[in-house]
Amino acid sequence: MKSLSRSLDISPMRLADISDVLRVEALCFSTTWPRNAFHNELNDNKLAHYFVGRCEDEIIAYGGLWVILEDAHITTVAVDPAHQGRHHGERILVHLLDEAIERGASWVTLEVRESNAVAQKLYKKYGFAVVNTRRGYYSDNDENALVMWAGNLKSVVYRNRLATLKETLR
Ligand SMILES: CC(C)(COP(=O)(O)OP(=O)(O)OC[C@H]1O[C@@H](n2cnc3c(N)ncnc32)[C@H](O)[C@@H]1OP(=O)(O)O)[C@@H](O)C(=O)NCCC(=O)NCCS
Repeated sequence: MKSLSRSLDISPMRLADISDVLRVEALCFSTTWPRNAFHNELNDNKLAHYFVGRCEDEIIAYGGLWVILEDAHITTVAVDPAHQGRHHGERILVHLLDEAIERGASWVTLEVRESNAVAQKLYKKYGFAVVNTRRGYYSDNDENALVMWAGNLKSVVYRNRLATLKETLR
């Protein structure tokens, strides 16, 4: 699946994209995924679906999720800091939600650092709510993870909410 959103060209992540993804990863996260984590996700994990967002042919954003029957788990979302605040993170998130819905998921979850107010605000905009706290989940600084869920993705209420947000994004 390939979709063009204004100024962000989103397509499935390929092995050849990993070096560029790692560049963005290093700019975005204090603890980074190693190359083989992305490699294994793309090559070996049949439940995993990863995407990159290009702006003028440069990878500036990416995101991924697992879909396990009715549940989807967003594993990562990131936007190059030089391009943040221009709704690219939102475009990647919408793409992941569309992918989850297309693959039959009803519920979607993710973990986010307690201090990451920007990401939490983005997720709340798309109907995610905090349902649990995992104490000391992030080993680099012992920070808590907030566990957020959204759904039911198949409900009329959620579909209408998503459609309205997508319309505004366009
Ligand atoms: C979180 C992240 C993906 C958001 O992407 P982005 O492109 O910067 O954000 P967007 O421009 O798409 O903004 C979408 C929404 O996020 C929230 N947001 C974005 N920037 C914000 C800021 N500076 N302050 C508060 N909220 C903000 C808002 O809700 C915004 O919607 P609005 O403009 O209608 O208010 C990006 O900041 C990032 O990559 N951060 C580092 C990596 C990370 O934390 N990933 C998430 C891990 S769980």
